[in-house]
Amino acid sequence: MTKTILRALAGETQAVPPIWMMRQAGRYLPEYRATRAKAGDFLSLCYAPELAAEVTLQPIRRYGFDAAILFADILLLPQALGADLWFETGEGPRLSTVTSAADLARLKAKGAIHETLAPVYETVRILSRELPKEVTLIGFAGAPWTVATYMIAGRGTPDQGPAHALKAADRATFQGLIDLLTEATVDYLSAQVEAGAEVVKLFDSWAGSLKGRDFDDFALEPARRITQALKARHPGLPVIAFPREARGRYEGFAEATGADCVALDNSVAADWAAAHVQKDGCVQGNLDPAHMVTGGEALVAETRRIVRAFSNGPHIFNLGHGITPDADPHNVQRMIDAVRG
Ligand code: CP3
Repeated sequence: MTKTILRALAGETQAVPPIWMMRQAGRYLPEYRATRAKAGDFLSLCYAPELAAEVTLQPIRRYGFDAAILFADILLLPQALGADLWFETGEGPRLSTVTSAADLARLKAKGAIHETLAPVYETVRILSRELPKEVTLIGFAGAPWTVATYMIAGRGTPDQGPAHALKAADRATFQGLIDLLTEATVDYLSAQVEAGAEVVKLFDSWAGSLKGRDFDDFALEPARRITQALKARHPGLPVIAFPREARGRYEGFAEATGADCVALDNSVAADWAAAHVQKDGCVQGNLDPAHMVTGGEALVAETRRIVRAFSNGPHIFNLGHGITPDADPHNVQRMIDAVRG
């Protein structure tokens, strides 16, 4: 096994950790903005396999990252399940809402997701042909809770209030939505793997707003079900889980779900995570993406500190969250040089 990312996921400690970056294909890159303009809008770009493959490859060509992440979005799955989806310029996603048993029944009645998502699988097939042989292709989906927060509210929310409200008011509909998403996510990720994805990552961006028992039921349990089902269908498939802002609940997450790697957000202290999370296997992370904007000596010092903290176990270097549109592409190169240099 020569690919550095797969070696880390298999538990190997490497002198230089492999590196990639969340949102590495994105608006901070002029070549991304040019391709997105050619596609028209963001969703058209997601559903245009040649162009989506092109933007996936751009950061690989520019920086030589060890992994490429499929260019798509976590909200394509709700769209494939029958929700309306559009992006308001400068504001973010908008969806038709799911707030009742009748709304859920309509989604369940639609059934098949693969027709809508076929262009995504085609992007994966193009990438598995065109990526340099040492680069690992990562497929992904949103975790059920995070996707449900957008579906219930019809948009992003600061505190996921509408999803928490539905969970309290109509538990059966809420649980039904989580179950529908759990099953659809297994089918979606499985199709990505069949098309050529070598690793899958589950993004639970809002896991941190689930407390106590809710965290077990709606972050941990869906991740466990998805991981187990995928590994049953694709023995040996590495899974990365990202229960963002899980704080102390990062500890034990890999063991409880069967994930091969836990991605850490930048609120987690690297020394704590080395002792309490990396002891169970590979970790990914966790530089504050703000350094990609501010740069300077602090960027280099923080990068080195994180590399050092995780140097006694398997580690994939990454940011703690996605790179932002105001980031300076030169700072990305400085981070890579600090990791590899
Ligand atoms: O990491 C990558 O480069 C792969 C592609 C990817 C995108 N979104 C592309 C994208 C991935 C893995 C995602 C995940 C995603 N999408 C998450 C989970 C990770 C996270 O960031 O917490 C979430 C919550 C979404 C939903 C979403 N998509 C929102 C809220 C927005 C609008 C906010 C924003 O950043 O503009 C998007 C749009 C989006 N997804 C963009 C990209 C490159 C920007 C679209 C543009 O070009 O205008």
